[in-house]
Amino acid sequence: MKSDAKTFSLPARILHWLMAAMILAMLFIGVGMVASVSERHEWLLRVHKPLGIAILILAVVRLAVRLRHPPPALPADLPAVQKLAAHASHWLLYILMLAMPLIGWAMLSAGGYPVMLSDSLRLPPIFPTSPVAFAVLRHMHSWFAMLLFLTFLAHMGAALYHGLIRRDGVLSSMVRGEKKAGEELYSLTQEAGTDDS
Ligand code: HEM
Ligand code: HEM
Repeated sequence: MKSDAKTFSLPARILHWLMAAMILAMLFIGVGMVASVSERHEWLLRVHKPLGIAILILAVVRLAVRLRHPPPALPADLPAVQKLAAHASHWLLYILMLAMPLIGWAMLSAGGYPVMLSDSLRLPPIFPTSPVAFAVLRHMHSWFAMLLFLTFLAHMGAALYHGLIRRDGVLSSMVRGEKKAGEELYSLTQEAGTDDS
């Protein structure tokens, strides 16, 4: 279905940038955590778990916001293959921001570890205890993290291509909530009565 929205809504933009910072922090915390055997490991893990569960909750809120405020359509002159790549990578990012925390939670459950979000807040297990499942989920958590990082790099590259090379308003629709460049021109020509279509 084609969206009539001209730009991203304020809640969508706030959630996008807040979650981008949280997800990037989580990737670096995760890598720092497994690379550290000092007492920092314990400290990083104590941050990693609640931050990861917060991402899971915000991802659900974000999907609800997206349903209520559909995103603006991509520029009409964007090649079909680039539109397809944009939509596929956005959905992959949504899937990964839901899957990563769920896998982390399920992995600790399968390992029989208590999933503590603070000294007193304990989440229930979501997976039966199984050493084999723990090993599989532990690997999945690492591989999906790598996939998330690579998808993020491609996504950021595409955003900068829109912002610096095509200058088509896609980046500013997410940064400042401005109308897409093409839409702006269209409404200006409409207002001035110079639209010859
Ligand atoms: C968006 C959410 C998340 C991201 C991006 C993320 C990312 C990562 C990364 C990059 C690693 C290091 C993987 C490696 O190199 O082997 C890691 C490890 C880990 N994560 Fe997550 N994670 C997320 C959510 C969670 C959640 C919600 C939990 C638990 C409730 C969790 C528990 C763990 C544990 C236990 C480890 C292994 C620590 C160790 O072996 O020392 N993660 N995570
Ligand atoms: C881990 C970090 C990030 C994640 C998970 C993420 C995720 C997403 C998702 C899921 C969308 C689709 C929104 C929707 O249709 O509902 C999106 C759109 C967008 N993101 Fe990101 N993003 C991240 C970082 C960034 C960065 C660093 C930039 C800029 C350099 C950026 C620029 C954009 C732009 C311009 C759009 C709009 C694209 C369009 O209109 O099709 N994002 N992002």
